Amino acid sequence: MSESRFQDRTIIVTGAGSGIGRATALRLAREGARVIGVDISRERLQHLESELGPDAATIDGDLSRQLTVDRVMAATRPRVDGLANVAGIMDGFEPTAEITDENWDRVLGVNLTGMMRMTRAVLSLMLERGQGSIVNVGSEAGQRGSAAGTPYTVSKHAVNGFTLSTAFFYTPKGIRCNAVAPGPVATNIEADFRSTHAQERLGPIFQATVPPVAQPDAIAAAIAWLLSDDASDVSGAILPVDGGWAAI
Ligand SMILES: NC(=O)c1ccc[n+]([C@@H]2O[C@H](COP(=O)([O-])OP(=O)(O)OC[C@H]3O[C@@H](n4cnc5c(N)ncnc54)[C@H](O)[C@@H]3O)[C@@H](O)[C@H]2O)c1
Repeated sequence: MSESRFQDRTIIVTGAGSGIGRATALRLAREGARVIGVDISRERLQHLESELGPDAATIDGDLSRQLTVDRVMAATRPRVDGLANVAGIMDGFEPTAEITDENWDRVLGVNLTGMMRMTRAVLSLMLERGQGSIVNVGSEAGQRGSAAGTPYTVSKHAVNGFTLSTAFFYTPKGIRCNAVAPGPVATNIEADFRSTHAQERLGPIFQATVPPVAQPDAIAAAIAWLLSDDASDVSGAILPVDGGWAAI
């Protein structure tokens, strides 16, 4: 870790109130960044604020709503160097026949539409300066069909496509876009089995293949690397940070 890798840089971190987002926000701040932390939970952001330093800002709001994105950009302007799209929610491990419209819209709304809106907003500022780095948090569930329910699996496969397409269009304009794909991480994410069928189908696979649970700092280190100039020639990568799960 360096104290100056992100000196004079402004970086937005979504989901900053907990887990991987919180670890990322703290790491970037320790390395000199001005962090704009976003989360739906004001209470969680209050715990974070005192640890981020005087230049930081926190915004509470639902990232699946454009209004929240507009408020984030108002606090960030005139400059943004990086975006870590970390905020996300799990499904209830429901297989396709058991999906409710409500849960589908909820999971896709946060994990995909929120990420798209946030990215679209920062791109307009990054394009003005011809530089920037965006890191999306995908999942091992975006690498296979056997790590979550259908809505979450779809949302994380879509994160990969979103990452690749964004990298394709904007790397020549100086903006890199990458994703990390974590395995199990010790956070506050809610992941309750609501489906007997899914439990019976996934249970044996989880027992046989899932690696030890990682700490959020391990994922934050990879996100910070991709955001930094140390990864200056990396764009369009989906980096498994999963204790080797993707290799199984
Ligand atoms: N924990 C794991 O095992 C794991 C594994 C793979 C990928 N991930 C991904 O990591 C990311 C972070 O999850 P985590 O495990 O740190 O969970 P977490 O629940 O600890 O943190 C997520 C944060 O996002 C916030 N959030 C949720 N919905 C929001 C919304 N609509 N608007 C704004 N903020 C919102 C929550 O309040 C929370 O503070 C997610 O994208 C998740 O899919 C987690």
